[in-house]
Amino acid sequence: MNPTQNIHQGHWIAPRPITLLEGEDPQAIEGFDYAEFYVENARQTAMYFCFSFGFTPVAYRGPETGYTESASYVLKQNKVTLLITAPLKTTSPICNQVALHGMTVHDVAFRVPNCEAFYYAAMEKGAESAMVPTVWQDEHGVIKKAAIKAYGDTIHSLVERTNYSGDFWPGFVPYGDLFAVPENTSLDGLIVIDHMVANVQLGKMEHWVKYYENILGFSQFLSFSDDDISTEYSALMSKVMTGGHGKIKLPINEPAHGKRKSQIEEYLEFHNGPGVQHLALATNDIIGVVRELKSRGITFLNVPKSYYDDLPERVGPIKQDLQQLAELGILVDRDEDGYLLQLFTKPLHDRPTIFFEIIQRQGSKGFGVGNFKALFEAIERDQELRGNL
Ligand code: FE2
Repeated sequence: MNPTQNIHQGHWIAPRPITLLEGEDPQAIEGFDYAEFYVENARQTAMYFCFSFGFTPVAYRGPETGYTESASYVLKQNKVTLLITAPLKTTSPICNQVALHGMTVHDVAFRVPNCEAFYYAAMEKGAESAMVPTVWQDEHGVIKKAAIKAYGDTIHSLVERTNYSGDFWPGFVPYGDLFAVPENTSLDGLIVIDHMVANVQLGKMEHWVKYYENILGFSQFLSFSDDDISTEYSALMSKVMTGGHGKIKLPINEPAHGKRKSQIEEYLEFHNGPGVQHLALATNDIIGVVRELKSRGITFLNVPKSYYDDLPERVGPIKQDLQQLAELGILVDRDEDGYLLQLFTKPLHDRPTIFFEIIQRQGSKGFGVGNFKALFEAIERDQELRGNL
């Protein structure tokens, strides 16, 4: 094995006794580490995220760095890290996933203080392994990673990078060394991944609620029934699972019976099974961010102008200028803790599956349930255009 292969492959860590500090939670989570997209063409997708959403390409791994299985681009904006990966050979298992799902989020990775402790605690409670604890090393230190399977083909990687000072991962090189970094396209308005939402099949909600509760030590934060979230045509149920003392929020959607096909059923059909429906990216300046993204050609779901007619009565006083919110189509919702502003992009590719949400929290810890009806009616107008309603 040559040194280049070593750096990419890492070394399996044999199971060993785990020592925990007094009171240490073996399944502690510090936050989202990254979201990995599987795509057919990583170079073009990476450029799309950079030019359209203002991400900065920071690292790369592919055949030029001695890795011949796939090509991966690491994109960052503040604390948001996206990993964009494409297969290079038809024998790669990534190929099957891309054929089946189209662009899809394969890995919702958690940053953990103790990878081995988390992994073995989850395995003891019935988790299915996707990768045994493995260690990578370079001049910046060591990284440990293990992974467990979640809904559909999605996995949760458990990344321990406490003893690593590099940009991303051993074996990745700074992006600019290989390709020109686009100039003047980076933005810094998107701060952190606020939440990532799963769509699961009809009847599977409880299974996945129990998975997060029993195997990952999460708890249920909120729940919405089909009475909360229904339109004339379709309905869904949603439960929000939370872990890492609130740093990780993973809502789960299940379709509910309606007159016509729900947006969740449309997703499940075109994604060929359960998967990540959207990533919510938090900002402190939603007006500035949405204005900039629109100028770069990003399209958002349109809400009817009438949505703003009763907004002051519905949400009370807010800091932002109502006229600008209406002009940009930004939604507002209030709960007992405060309010939030949010907006949803149209799907990121041709299949009606994955999209982004831009969210600004002004105290509210919720998810904008008061907007669901207006939002779903907007989605249904698009579904009807696609002939899927
Ligand atoms: Fe959301």
